[in-house]
Amino acid sequence: MRRKDGKPKRKARRTLPEYDHGFGSNPATSAYRHPNCTGVRTRDHWTVLSLFSGCGGLDLSFLGGFRVYGQTFESLPFDILEALDISEDAVGCHQLNLGSHARCVDLTDVPPAALPQADVLIGGFPCQDFSSSGPKTGFAGDRGQLYRVLVEYMEAHRPRVVVAENVPYLARLRDGEYLETIIREFEQVGYHFDVWELYAPDYGLPQSRRRLFLVGVRNDLAGYPRMPEPTHLGKHLTIAEALADLEEITDERVANQSQYFVASRATSGGGQGDHRNLPDKVAYCIRANARGRIQFHHRLDRRLTVRECARLQSFPDEFVFPFTTQRNLTLIGNAVPPILGYRVAQSVADFLGSAQSSAAIHGETRADGTGVAIRRGYAIQPRLFEF
Ligand SMILES: C[S@@+](CC[C@H](N)C(=O)[O-])C[C@H]1O[C@@H](n2cnc3c(N)ncnc32)[C@H](O)[C@@H]1O
Repeated sequence: MRRKDGKPKRKARRTLPEYDHGFGSNPATSAYRHPNCTGVRTRDHWTVLSLFSGCGGLDLSFLGGFRVYGQTFESLPFDILEALDISEDAVGCHQLNLGSHARCVDLTDVPPAALPQADVLIGGFPCQDFSSSGPKTGFAGDRGQLYRVLVEYMEAHRPRVVVAENVPYLARLRDGEYLETIIREFEQVGYHFDVWELYAPDYGLPQSRRRLFLVGVRNDLAGYPRMPEPTHLGKHLTIAEALADLEEITDERVANQSQYFVASRATSGGGQGDHRNLPDKVAYCIRANARGRIQFHHRLDRRLTVRECARLQSFPDEFVFPFTTQRNLTLIGNAVPPILGYRVAQSVADFLGSAQSSAAIHGETRADGTGVAIRRGYAIQPRLFEF
């Protein structure tokens, strides 16, 4: 078969790559990976419950102990007790890479009492109903009410800190009414929340991605985690820098590097279609549904591979995706970039460390939950950079 321009048509890969190791069992990661990836619990670590855990992007953030972009992200003092998601793909990928604590469940069917008590609750509740590229149905959508699962857990188990993640459009939809409602319901069960809108390139991600973190502290704890300081302000990592070493690799010497959608050429269509990335810029946002959009390499005449998308999301190369191209890209596109969530997790760890000692030393707890002003970090940007 030939394409219109006479070049031979490339064939999509038909066989699935097979991997001997996931991230957690790969001997190459043993020097720095978090002990919990192999099921080891550490007594002085904070415990975490992960809801809507996907393939584990945010979970890896809280664990730490991984390498990407030539940098080591040290282990953090958190152990994940359980990670729950309705998607078999997400749970399969999570188990392969981060350990057996992932379970496949519909969280609307699980009574909160059946979940373990943890110090920290994390959950990127589904965002399609709040996304600028989705139907914008908000609470009326099928998944628009799933944040209630977090509220019910908070009510039942009183975690010290809650980190919920979502798309920035949530803050803009209906002039912020949806976000206000969610925060109100979170706070009604005894928490105070701040909202951080973080632009991922400012934290070292070579990809344009903006995310909201809703960070809550139980009302009897004094203080608040600090919004992470940008690490790469004015010195963003470009797509060309992030992917340079993969350009010559076409096989599975680097996992998932042979997987990509075949597309004959990039178009110049204003963000739609196979839009080519620009080498001296961060990549366009990696989307969960990559069939119709923007996954073209900045230099080569092909779309980005699954590994390149994972790299642009800051997954370490040893974190493998065992399914077909689209199924893998769905997991990758849905994930919180591990290095972005890492900065949030570090801030939570610092807070918990100091909250514990100040409460112990000074007895700084609040009886009525009204003493600390709710700080709102809303820095809503006038433009959206979601693609
Ligand atoms: C935005 S993704 C979360 C990604 C994750 N935070 C990460 O960093 O990889 C939302 C997840 O919610 C899951 N989900 C949707 N409805 C669910 C339900 N009823 N019960 C459990 N999980 C659900 C989806 O399968 C999806 O993996």
